[in-house]
Amino acid sequence: MKKDFLTLLDVTAEELQALINRASELKIGKDLSACPLIGKSIGLLFNKTSTRTRISFQTGIYQLGAQAIYINTNDLQLGRGETIEDTARVLSRFLHAIVIRTYEHDTIITLAQNSSIPIINGLTDLHHPCQALADVLTIQEKKGRLKDIRIVYIGDGNNVANSLIEAAQLTGIDLVLACPHGYEPDKTIYENARSRGARIKVVANPAEAVKDADVLYTDVWISMGQEKEIERKKKKFEGYQINKRLLSLAKPDAIVMHCLPAHRGEEITDEVIDSPQSVVIDQAENRLHTQKALLEALVK
Ligand code: CP
Ligand code: NVA
Repeated sequence: MKKDFLTLLDVTAEELQALINRASELKIGKDLSACPLIGKSIGLLFNKTSTRTRISFQTGIYQLGAQAIYINTNDLQLGRGETIEDTARVLSRFLHAIVIRTYEHDTIITLAQNSSIPIINGLTDLHHPCQALADVLTIQEKKGRLKDIRIVYIGDGNNVANSLIEAAQLTGIDLVLACPHGYEPDKTIYENARSRGARIKVVANPAEAVKDADVLYTDVWISMGQEKEIERKKKKFEGYQINKRLLSLAKPDAIVMHCLPAHRGEEITDEVIDSPQSVVIDQAENRLHTQKALLEALVK
């Protein structure tokens, strides 16, 4: 049976740990010459821009011996009204997996339901599970463990925040989210995680939230597709910035994470993102290793 990766909860806690362990092996060059996906083709269907996800998948797929076929979905017949269902059925005959980046999460559910090949979520408005894989590896590397590590996420309760909640649910990470009223993470994802015993809470005050933080995490205030909301959101998010003052309230050895791209001067200052406490570039690099581990596990 094919297995999709639409949300982080498509893997169990044990599978997540195995992916992280395998990514660490790949990172240090284990099986460097092995090409487990030789002769295979993996489609990258994107209709939002991307630097990290696109390039890390393309290079990772090549390193595993397969070819990546990148296409902007507007260039498919989808853009002229062909259904997702027919697209899924046909592409399943050519490709061995699809990585898709799009707006509505329901689109990738429909794609997955009508495909006989694995579908990997490269970001939707609701989830960013590949980012969460790299985040978990980065925290494991920097802090030596996951359980009881306190992440304080400051800002928009968006796709990145939702996937972090699922990461907390699977790993025992202690997650506090400081979000302006009306911009909390998805209620269903949050309540599902709480009901399964995840240590997560949502608060409004960043300065209170940041106390005892091992990790400070943020993301842009305006996600792709929300450009019309710029002025309204900017007002709402004043004060939800990781700056030197906020960082000084966390543990002295706290690390700073950001999925990137950053809007410097909005959710984070130059001073903090460029400081020795920032691990954002290592975090970005880990996209490559974790996604290679994921492809190895899913693509048959
Ligand atoms: N973090 C991330 O997904 O970056 P891109 O939008 O550049 O892919
Ligand atoms: N929340 C951001 C993440 C970008 C990687 C967005 O959806 O635009």
